[in-house]
Amino acid sequence: MFYRMFVLLSAVVVCVAEQQSPGPLPPANLRVEYLTNPSGIDIRQPRFSWVLHHTERGQKQQAFQIIVSSERSTATADLWDSGRIESAASTHVPYAGKPLESSRIYYWKVRYWDSNGVASSYSRIARFTTGLFSPSDWKGKWITGANQLRKEFTLDAKPARALAHISGLGYYELRINGRKVGDHVLDPGWTTYDKRVLYVTYDVTHYLQAGANAIAVTLGRGWFGSRMLLLQLNIELEGGNRLEVVSDTTWKVQPGPIVSDSIYDGETYDARLETSGWDRPGFQDQDWKWASVANAPGGVLSAQLMPPIRVNDTIVPLKLTVPRPGVYVYDMGQNFAGWVRLRVKGSRGTKVRIRHAELVYDDGMLNTENLRAAKATDVYILRGDGEEEIYEPHFTYHGFRYVELTGYPGTPRLDTITGRVVHSSVRPSGNFAASKPILNQIQRLVFWGIRSNLHSVPTDCDQRDERMGWMADAHLYSENAILNFDMAAFYTNFLRNIADIQGSDGSLTDTVPHKYGRRPADPAWGSAYPLILWYMYEYYGDRRLLEQHYTGIKAWADFLRRRAPDGIVDYSYYGDWVPIEKTPGSLVSTLYYYWSVDITRRVAEILGKNAEADQYKRLEESIQAAFHQKFYNPQTGTYANGSQTANLLPLYLDVAPKEVRGRLMSALVDNIVYTNNTHLTTGILGAKYILPLLTRERRADLAYELATQTTYPSWGYMVGNGATTLWELWQNKTGPSMNSHNHPMFGSIGAWFYNALAGINPDPRGPGFARIRMQPQMVRDLNWASGTVQTMYGAVTCSWNRDRDRFRIEVAIPLGAEVEVYVPAGERSIQESGKTVWADGKFQPGASGIMSAHKAGEAVVFTVGSGRYVFTAGE
Ligand code: BGC
Repeated sequence: MFYRMFVLLSAVVVCVAEQQSPGPLPPANLRVEYLTNPSGIDIRQPRFSWVLHHTERGQKQQAFQIIVSSERSTATADLWDSGRIESAASTHVPYAGKPLESSRIYYWKVRYWDSNGVASSYSRIARFTTGLFSPSDWKGKWITGANQLRKEFTLDAKPARALAHISGLGYYELRINGRKVGDHVLDPGWTTYDKRVLYVTYDVTHYLQAGANAIAVTLGRGWFGSRMLLLQLNIELEGGNRLEVVSDTTWKVQPGPIVSDSIYDGETYDARLETSGWDRPGFQDQDWKWASVANAPGGVLSAQLMPPIRVNDTIVPLKLTVPRPGVYVYDMGQNFAGWVRLRVKGSRGTKVRIRHAELVYDDGMLNTENLRAAKATDVYILRGDGEEEIYEPHFTYHGFRYVELTGYPGTPRLDTITGRVVHSSVRPSGNFAASKPILNQIQRLVFWGIRSNLHSVPTDCDQRDERMGWMADAHLYSENAILNFDMAAFYTNFLRNIADIQGSDGSLTDTVPHKYGRRPADPAWGSAYPLILWYMYEYYGDRRLLEQHYTGIKAWADFLRRRAPDGIVDYSYYGDWVPIEKTPGSLVSTLYYYWSVDITRRVAEILGKNAEADQYKRLEESIQAAFHQKFYNPQTGTYANGSQTANLLPLYLDVAPKEVRGRLMSALVDNIVYTNNTHLTTGILGAKYILPLLTRERRADLAYELATQTTYPSWGYMVGNGATTLWELWQNKTGPSMNSHNHPMFGSIGAWFYNALAGINPDPRGPGFARIRMQPQMVRDLNWASGTVQTMYGAVTCSWNRDRDRFRIEVAIPLGAEVEVYVPAGERSIQESGKTVWADGKFQPGASGIMSAHKAGEAVVFTVGSGRYVFTAGE
């Protein structure tokens, strides 16, 4: 029976395999400026990327052809026919056709030729919409007057094409003819409004109709603090006539049901003030006021070219308790950012209060002490028309695990509320799992910590009266954000936000946009600028960003140089923040100064600015010498006070001279193992680099022990104490002090999971994962680990398992990438998909896709091209 099923199954498999003719498959996952079918491209030479697939291993793209057309069918290449271009590039290929026009829809496709010269068929057709390239494309005015704004107009014919470009500050919600346009919330993204304002483009063709139409916009205060709207609707009718509808003083305004809205405090919504039908044509708005012209916010208008904030998930509560009569407390089972959706039925004017908190007291009541001044309270006042009412706030968000309902008419049930998980809708792009449960639990904390804190800028926390783009937090968790989510467009935007706040003296600010903290930024905070720029290059291969921001990071490095006349930076505010053992601030500041100069030098080299590169190289050397001179203690063989961070940072950055490294490393290891019984004493900065450093220095075993530690202080201690997101402090505190329970800055360990345990590392010789070093660490009691990362070239996977001295490593590599796989074989022979590829200490060529192999220490390093490879030994 089983045998027959097996035969049957294999026949099906063979059949499916045979249907796919061998050779190149059509390119997939077409993207423009990192985005799938984006709306509002305002870059004149946008860059195209695609992912290649082939039925054979080790294949390459030899040439490609792109067609860009104004026709949906792409029948004519009226904008661009690239012709056959001899190039292996499948990422960041700049548009080079006729000038793109504002407010248009364009279609494109691509095909490629493989190494054998065989052409693929064309990809499916993708599209992009342009925004407004020039300020004069905007015909409307910024208008204001109330929360709700509306306008009616008539169309003589059906629209063939209609694009709406909108910016509504602080936040807007756009409706046309009774329907909400798009699914963005808390839009547009937060910027330094007097420098830049983001607008969003929607294709609204299908929202409009021949005859009467109505546009309705609701505004919230958001980070901007007041309300104003700019709208440009460009319509092309069937038959070719064009017209535009813009924001001006012919719009009508009215306060509406949102009585108050504040990001920190919450929203009060009085459903009795709803004016049903106001977003449809024919609504009687005679008693509404006229809109007035507002003072423009001042910044340039830029397209929002990043994933918008959306409701990304829904969570069902775990538990409902009633700690006091009439007080209903829900445990959502997960700390997250967003709000709840409330279902309620009751009499008109009933007031339901929804409070949010991360913690509860022993008696089950909400503990909001650590929210500081943030009220985090939404109030819903019922319409009371006998129907069930459903409410979600519009212009606020909260960070919470617990929800308290009071004033609820009747008895609420578990399904009275559902959690709505709200954040920038960056696509999850990574996966990590391993045989040791604590690692998976930490990975979960990291994942939720990141997603709770992407709110158009990377924030420090999501719950208290803060939620700022604190720059150190931002760079510390950016690598693990990149490995878990597609962050390319998000950080492209954030880098521009950073550039916007840079002073003419090169100074930066602690938070971006700048609201909290100081100018100039603490050096370890401001260095987010060069660091995130560099990560964008390493992980996404973005050279254009290097060109755009070179002068910016150079100005920052030069700013620090002026603050370090003798090579030592003369200021620091935070040092290695929230540590167990302190590290002198000037040591930390000087190392980040060194790092900023080092990245500036590397970027100068890449951009061919050799004289400047030389100059920064010399500066680097002089900082290095000054640093060593100032902080090294030859008696103890350590830096400064010998704290873990004081010793590990100079090692990690290769600032410590060769001759002291050995002794320094033993001092560090002794400190971890003996002085602290295998625990960290670092703050957020040291915590990021300690695990990669130990791994690089062949102490992955110790890194693993720290990562799986469960007693205080450790990540495992947070897990053991019920954390569902990462804490701000190693300590478990619940009082009114600074102790958020959702702070992603300690989440840097997440990058180490991918880099060390799953072994997936970008190789600087081929930025953007064009080259990859696959070096999984098979440490201690870890029996298997598995990671996948979606790169610009496609999915990269490394999964391994072992049993005594037998092991198996399976890797999958996308076309366009080249990988060095480290197979820890000792003296044994190695098979790949059953064929011997290494025996008697030598490479046995013959397997397709494997280019070469050499021995490096205990490992054999295979260089392989695209495809799936399974290496085994001892089986
Ligand atoms: C923030 C941090 C930030 C720090 C700097 C705190 O209030 O929450 O995460 O980096 O301030 O001092």
